[in-house]
Amino acid sequence: MRLDRFICKSTSLTQPEALTRIASGRVIVNGDVVRNNAKQVHENNLITLDGAPITPRASRYIMFHKPVDTVCSNVDDAYPSLFNLIDIERAGDLHIAGRLDADTTGLVLITDDGRWTFHITSPKTLCEKTYRVGLRDPIAEDAVLRFSQGIQLQGETALTAPAKLEIIHAKEVLLTITEGRFHQVKRMFAATGNKVKSLHRERIGAVNLDIDLAQWRYLTPSEVLSF
Ligand code: URA
Repeated sequence: MRLDRFICKSTSLTQPEALTRIASGRVIVNGDVVRNNAKQVHENNLITLDGAPITPRASRYIMFHKPVDTVCSNVDDAYPSLFNLIDIERAGDLHIAGRLDADTTGLVLITDDGRWTFHITSPKTLCEKTYRVGLRDPIAEDAVLRFSQGIQLQGETALTAPAKLEIIHAKEVLLTITEGRFHQVKRMFAATGNKVKSLHRERIGAVNLDIDLAQWRYLTPSEVLSF
């Protein structure tokens, strides 16, 4: 992570305060004065401020059950941010590992560990996300095959990556995808002439949303390490 980010995360300093201290040569990384606030550092590095070692603050990993009509951004004119529902210190350090639309419900993972988020959101890591989808029309007979072969989304050149479709009822399916393109699930069904009426994320990787989770909890160490 960037040096200024590391200092903010591990101390009570604001970003401008961290930048001032770095610029004035008060921060030492592994024995060298570093004045570049963008220098990449790691928690194993010895980093001192005015001679005192900075102890890295542990990262936080949260399972959140998103209700309908909330947004995953910090501010929105129409709906409240889900961060309003997390009463936690330093909430401003947290970000969402894979956003959901305002009308989508279900599993959201929240953290202050950017590298961990990369494992979840990068299409290269093939991290599976499973959605329970309610449809306007009965699912087409060839849908399982079409979704497995990739769907041509409007306005995009590359087909979607192979997706798994499991039919629960004619108008209810489970869809598993490994990408996170803009409104991807809604656009995949729209491309087949259907329409998503309800959307609920049940799973990300090996982490399933607790059925009875009222709002949020910290992930267990094994859940964190599963990514
Ligand atoms: N795909 C969508 O269309 N919306 C979401 O919220 C998530 C995936």
